[in-house]
Amino acid sequence: MEVPPYLMNERYDDRYFDVVNAIEEAKHVFFQGSGFMEIFSATGPGRKEFRIGETGFGAGRLLIALLDFLDDCGTTDMSISYNSVELHPVTSERMASILEGFRPKVGPLIDQLVQAYDRLELPGPGWRRIVFNRPFGVLTLNLWIGEALEMVRTLTVPCDAWFLDGHGPKKNPSIWRPELLLSIGEKTVSGGTCATYTVAGAVRRGLVAAGFSVEQCTGFGGKKSVLKGVKLPAQASE
Ligand SMILES: C[S@@+](CC[C@H](N)C(=O)[O-])C[C@H]1O[C@@H](n2cnc3c(N)ncnc32)[C@H](O)[C@@H]1O
Repeated sequence: MEVPPYLMNERYDDRYFDVVNAIEEAKHVFFQGSGFMEIFSATGPGRKEFRIGETGFGAGRLLIALLDFLDDCGTTDMSISYNSVELHPVTSERMASILEGFRPKVGPLIDQLVQAYDRLELPGPGWRRIVFNRPFGVLTLNLWIGEALEMVRTLTVPCDAWFLDGHGPKKNPSIWRPELLLSIGEKTVSGGTCATYTVAGAVRRGLVAAGFSVEQCTGFGGKKSVLKGVKLPAQASE
């Protein structure tokens, strides 16, 4: 099948996402894998503050999918901190064209992100911030422009959930290197989670070394399996 050119990241010779229905894929792989259906259900445990980390912001498809998911959850007064990183930021025009296929489902969210992203001063390293006021509460995007390891080391508070969404380990081994995964483990609360679409042995071993117990789960859109992990208490993982 021919891949539309706007979905290819030529630097990594890989697509931004593998499936046509990548908003639904995000919900299956990343949100279900992170237990969000229970955590953010209106009748669930009622978390009001939550910190998410993401490796590989790309065009912000996961962020858009998360905003859409949270809007539908029925919860209110949430405060979500979404900490992401991008080494090679796309332009706002390219972001819009990558996200174009999702416009029928999440058009207003795409417009909100693209307009706010367009106002960021992208060149130069460091944090950028966009605040989304939504029916569920507030989500603050903290976007680090630079290398993933720098971003993770800069975090002062550990995350409750990580979305590992760099390109696949064959195309982009740097975003899966053990040093980075170890650092992610250090910046995850005990009982916190990680989720990713790759089940590669090196990724599984890296996450286990970083203190996660990992489990393969049913995949989505033709992918047989995906991975989720739970951070073990410090003494159990030593
Ligand atoms: C698969 S795309 C991300 C897709 C994105 N999460 C989305 O939902 O649209 C992976 C991204 O990781 C970025 N990236 C690759 N290596 C990186 C690194 N070492 N540090 C930070 N970002 C990196 C790439 O530039 C690319 O934009």
